[in-house]
Amino acid sequence: MSIKDLNAYQFRNLVDGKISLHSEFNFILGDNGSGKSSLLESIYYLSHGKSFRTTNVSNLVRNESQRFVLSAKTFNDQMLGIEYSLSGEKRIKIDGERQTKLSELAKNLAVQVVTPESFKLFIGGPRERRKFIDLGLFHVKHSFPEVWRQFNKTLKQRNACLKQRLSEQQLQYWTEQFCQLSETIAELRSGYIKELSIEVTNWLSVLLPEINDSIKLQYLQGWHSKKELFDVLTQNKDKELERGFSLYGAHKFDVRFQFNTLSLEQRLSRGQQKLFLLALTFAQTKLIEKVKRVKPILLIDDIGAELDISSRTAMSVANQLLNCQSIITAIDKSAVEPLVPKNKNYKMFHVKHGNISLMSE
Ligand SMILES: Nc1ncnc2c1ncn2[C@@H]1O[C@H](COP(=O)(O)OP(=O)(O)OP(=O)(O)O)[C@@H](O)[C@H]1O
Ligand SMILES: [Mg+2]
Repeated sequence: MSIKDLNAYQFRNLVDGKISLHSEFNFILGDNGSGKSSLLESIYYLSHGKSFRTTNVSNLVRNESQRFVLSAKTFNDQMLGIEYSLSGEKRIKIDGERQTKLSELAKNLAVQVVTPESFKLFIGGPRERRKFIDLGLFHVKHSFPEVWRQFNKTLKQRNACLKQRLSEQQLQYWTEQFCQLSETIAELRSGYIKELSIEVTNWLSVLLPEINDSIKLQYLQGWHSKKELFDVLTQNKDKELERGFSLYGAHKFDVRFQFNTLSLEQRLSRGQQKLFLLALTFAQTKLIEKVKRVKPILLIDDIGAELDISSRTAMSVANQLLNCQSIITAIDKSAVEPLVPKNKNYKMFHVKHGNISLMSE
């Protein structure tokens, strides 16, 4: 759901950041080190129970403080909260009730983020791409979370069989389950990536029309596309026993972004890569929105980085078509000027030393 009121207490440099957001367009301005990324990070954390910048949660607690508290009221009056204290305790509350699973937060807040570091999606290993795709699947394919949970349990068991060289019978049992679940997941993912590809083409026609036709998404399921997983595992049994874990299966999937036969990062400029990344994120956000289970929220950090005026104008058209809540940061007003709706239907905030104030609405 979209966030109406947000309170980020003792999170990074935010002291007691209370803001009331606009249901659609929000702009956050401030100098370097003022707290813009921290504000987006707090919203992301409230949805994922994780940061997009660090894996060490204690980095997020404000210096000299013992804990941070994040809370939000959505436009349909739902209350969501998460509190973390340096003792290691994490408390999640939804509408006043304690929850134990982080996924309960994610079910209610579908947050997508683009930062200047999102380039990792292209150049890094498959990890970021897997995370991105599975986040979309989580919201769009409702059977996915449960199948994925079962798969991970099975993967663990199968890896233990390989590592500890348990009996042939046990390995056989877990391998059969593992193959079945891998096939189910591969089918869900392949369907999702087909939908995503169509949606990406729509957004590229707004954001990067000149090269739209040459861009393709290629799905790699985690084992040879023309072979049965069971046969692949049989052929590679010795190799897997030697390594002590599963080398093929649904956990090894990847998505490649290609320009004709080249990878995107070899062919596109940095600005074009960023536009592609925005198209991809808009596409996923739209698919989540279409399901209508939860209204997604789009966070864009430092919009000025890499994008010229005409790119930001294209981005503004895309943002208005999306029909979701967006929260966009920039160092100064000129960077967001092309994005600000002419009908004044937006809110603009200023952040200084971790204090947020409303500039105009
Ligand atoms: N745990 C913490 N406690 C207090 N301050 C912190 C903590 N973690 C980071 N900071 C500080 O918070 C400030 C805001 O950081 P943030 O990344 O949000 O800035 P920003 O506005 O996004 O800047 P930029 O324009 O450079 O990206 C920085 O000065 C940073 O050093
Ligand atoms: Mg920043």
